[in-house]
Amino acid sequence: MVHFLTDNFKILFGCGLLFLSFILYYLYFRKSFAKKRQEGFSIIKARAKSDPFSGFPAPKVVDPKEYVYLTKNELAEYNGKNEKTYIGVKYDIFDVTDNQPMYGPSGSYHFFAGKETTIAMARNSTKTEDIELDFYDVKFTSDEEEALESWYNFFKSKYPLVGKVVRGKET
Ligand code: HEM
Repeated sequence: MVHFLTDNFKILFGCGLLFLSFILYYLYFRKSFAKKRQEGFSIIKARAKSDPFSGFPAPKVVDPKEYVYLTKNELAEYNGKNEKTYIGVKYDIFDVTDNQPMYGPSGSYHFFAGKETTIAMARNSTKTEDIELDFYDVKFTSDEEEALESWYNFFKSKYPLVGKVVRGKET
């Protein structure tokens, strides 16, 4: 009987000791756990700050049934004079209809309406020749690529993505 009690006591004592060591381990390392977690948050915050468009917010995309494929000539019809106003950046089409003060017939950036604007965006240019140029054969510098990416993300986060510019017979 006494033997049975001492055996049980040994098990209980062992478990208690194990439990205690877990508590002590947690208390001892608690600060460094919190620090690691904080570092993780800081990295996420820094990333979001350096590229505010990296996935925040998610791009707006229309119903696939309404997704359009337009050649550059067809895109030119959506120049603010009709029901819809579209802009192409990196051959993605964005619906900018809601921003008539910018892209409508008397808007300050009307010249971009209905255009594939990739080269103009990359070169931060409003020159007609840059707006009309086709970018298939153009090689961008790293600065231009960066500017283009930044404009593309800007449009993606602000306007619904409604289609693609495709190559027609005429382009
Ligand atoms: C002296 C040079 C420039 C000034 C002072 C200027 C100023 C502005 C201002 C005040 C806005 C309106 C921002 C808002 O209220 O939403 C704007 C929008 C815009 N700017 Fe410029 N800009 C300049 C050059 C350019 C150039 C070279 C480009 C060529 C890529 C450009 C492209 C745009 C575009 C696409 C928008 C419209 C953004 C939207 O859709 O909301 N800008 N600019």
